[in-house]
Amino acid sequence: MSDTITLDIDAPDDWHVHLRDDEMLDAVAPFTAEAFRHALIMPNLVPPVTSTALAVAYRDRILAAAGPNARADFTPMMALYLNDQLETADLLAGATDGVVFGAKFYPAGATTNSAAGGTSLLDYRGTLEAMAGAGIPLLVHAESTDPEVDIFDREAVFIEQQMVPVIEQIPELRVTVEHISTRAGLEIVRDHPQVGGSITPHHLTCDRSDLLANGMRPELYCKPVINSREERIAIATAATSGDRSFFFGTDSAPHPLSKKEAATVAAGIFNAPYALEVVAELFHEWGALDKLEAFVSHHGVDHYGLERAATKVRLTRRPDCEGDPAQSVCTAGGAEVRIFGADAARRWTWEPIR
Ligand code: DOR
Ligand code: ZN
Repeated sequence: MSDTITLDIDAPDDWHVHLRDDEMLDAVAPFTAEAFRHALIMPNLVPPVTSTALAVAYRDRILAAAGPNARADFTPMMALYLNDQLETADLLAGATDGVVFGAKFYPAGATTNSAAGGTSLLDYRGTLEAMAGAGIPLLVHAESTDPEVDIFDREAVFIEQQMVPVIEQIPELRVTVEHISTRAGLEIVRDHPQVGGSITPHHLTCDRSDLLANGMRPELYCKPVINSREERIAIATAATSGDRSFFFGTDSAPHPLSKKEAATVAAGIFNAPYALEVVAELFHEWGALDKLEAFVSHHGVDHYGLERAATKVRLTRRPDCEGDPAQSVCTAGGAEVRIFGADAARRWTWEPIR
């Protein structure tokens, strides 16, 4: 019989989140704004966020949707979508103005709303060199779109074919391998000091048997797809190790049930409401709660050269499962979105303390 655990940590950040727009934005933004200080906002709207002007307007809509319980220091960090529409001068000006934080590369067709993405990272060499010079980070969805490559090998193939050349040819560029799903992702991060890696709650806690073994569970379908048990254990080992190259990014990606329970299922897991609870329970199971703060609150800001938080959050774990956490949220128009991680929310709660 274990006791109640209380843990005070510096305010955490979410270094990868999809907030969408319109009614969906209104329904989901408050969860992120209440829990996280920085939220790195993905630009894969339709049409995508490819200019500073679009990013400013989107940031305003996010702040308007953040709700009455948003953290006072909640800060949407805006990324531009790296494609042929993006103008390097506009990206640099947006960064100088403090509006644009980074640029995100999606291989066209790899995932939800990536149709406007690129074919090859090195096609954007001029922009990447300018970003390196200005200290603007490159955020990468690392997944090959080659239909001949098995879905579970696509992260490794993309890294070898596209990321290694960029990292070696432009070594001053700060790069993030987002939502790491395999050892290939862990390795490229470990091998290069300028490369960081974000890790999601679902890649930390689920493997493809959870997705496929006991009835197919579309709510666990995301990109990059959840991989093998061995990969999951390697990812959890990295996250709980205290290695400063790895940090938290939820990849919370809401879709209405009509898109998640369909003949062709949309990729994306909505985890923002219980993301902290899920990662806290994983670190508890791994006997690594002493490393949780570094993973969720320090390594990301350190990688991006930002100040650590001056405020704290208190996490509490109760030994007995309690309560009945909501399993879904609804948009104003009545679309239901399932929430990942309710089990962890039966044990863990959190509140801002300063
Ligand atoms: O599962 C995913 N969903 N992966 C992504 O890269 C995009 C995201 C989304 O926007 O739904
Ligand atoms: Zn994402």
